Amino acid sequence: MTSFYQTGADDTQAIAEQESFIITKEYRRFAEFCDACLREKYIGLCYGAPGVGKTLSARYYAKWYFLEKRLPTNLPYLPLHPEISSCRTLLYTAEITSTPRKIKENIGSMRVQLGRFVEELLPQEQRTLMARDIPNYCHLIIVDETERLKMTGIEQFREIYDKGDLGLIFIGMPGLEKKLSRYPQLYSRVGFSHSYNTLSQDEMRFLLQIYWEKFGLSMNPNDYTDAEAIATICRVTNGNFRLVNRLFRQIERIMRINELSCITAEVVEAARECLVIGTV
Ligand SMILES: Nc1ncnc2c1ncn2[C@@H]1O[C@H](COP(=O)(O)OP(=O)(O)O)[C@@H](O)[C@H]1O
Ligand SMILES: [Mg+2]
Repeated sequence: MTSFYQTGADDTQAIAEQESFIITKEYRRFAEFCDACLREKYIGLCYGAPGVGKTLSARYYAKWYFLEKRLPTNLPYLPLHPEISSCRTLLYTAEITSTPRKIKENIGSMRVQLGRFVEELLPQEQRTLMARDIPNYCHLIIVDETERLKMTGIEQFREIYDKGDLGLIFIGMPGLEKKLSRYPQLYSRVGFSHSYNTLSQDEMRFLLQIYWEKFGLSMNPNDYTDAEAIATICRVTNGNFRLVNRLFRQIERIMRINELSCITAEVVEAARECLVIGTV
C-alpha cells in the first residue's frame, strides 16, 4: 500500500537520526532484552559505561524521535508519522528534579496520548470510538539516567509497573544493580539484567569500514597503513562509541587542513592529542 503521508518538516530530524543509527551487535542484544521485558512484563536493568550507546539504542528501539516532540501534548498539532502506529514504548529521561508526582503525571499523560496516536493511525473500523476505552498501547517504559532518581522516584515507577500491565526497564551506569538491590520491593520484581558492553574488535572493524566510507575511502585491513590506523583507533577509544565519534571529528579536521587522503596511525595520534579529554 502506498502511503500518501507527506513528511513534515518536523520529522526530518527524526528520520535523519533513525537513518544514521548503526545497528550493532550490542544494539541487537539490547533490543532482544527489551523485547523480553515487554513480552514477559518484567522489570529489567540495563547498565553500561557512559558513551557505549545506551541512550541512542533506547531512542531507536522506542522510535522516540517520532514521539518526543508530540508528547505530552502534540500542540501545535503535528501530523502523525506512520511509524508511530507500531510504537509501544515510552522513554522517560529522569531528571534531578523528577518528583514522584511529576513522574506520575508525565507518564500518565504520555500513555493516554500514545494511545490516541496509535488509534488515530488505525484503519477506521479497528478504532475504539470511546475515548475512555482506548486500550493500553504502552507495553514498555524505559527509564534512562536512573541514577538521577531518588528512592521515591524509583518507588513511583514501581507503582506504575504494579498497576500497569507493562514491562519496565531502568538504564544506568555500572553499579545500578547494587543501588537498586537496596530496594527489595523493587529488586524482587527484576526479571532480567543486561550489561551494555563496549564494541568488540570485530564490531569496531565493521564500524570503521562505515566511517572510512564516509570519508570516501575504502578500508583494507590487509593493507599495513589501514591495519595500523585501525589498531590505533581501537587502542585509544577502547571500543567506546562516543569516543570513536569524537575522534573521527578530529580526524576529519586534520585531514582537511592538511589535505590528506588517507587515515594513518599518525593522523589518529594527532587527532587524539586534539581531544581535550584525558581518557582518549
Ligand atoms: N548505534 C549507534 N549508531 C551511531 N552512533 C552511535 C550509536 N550508539 C552510540 N553512538 C554514538 O555514541 C554517542 C554516545 O551514545 P549514547 O547513547 O549517548 O551513550 P550512553 O547513553 O551509553 O552514554 C552518541 O552520541 C553517538 O554519537
Ligand atoms: Mg545515556
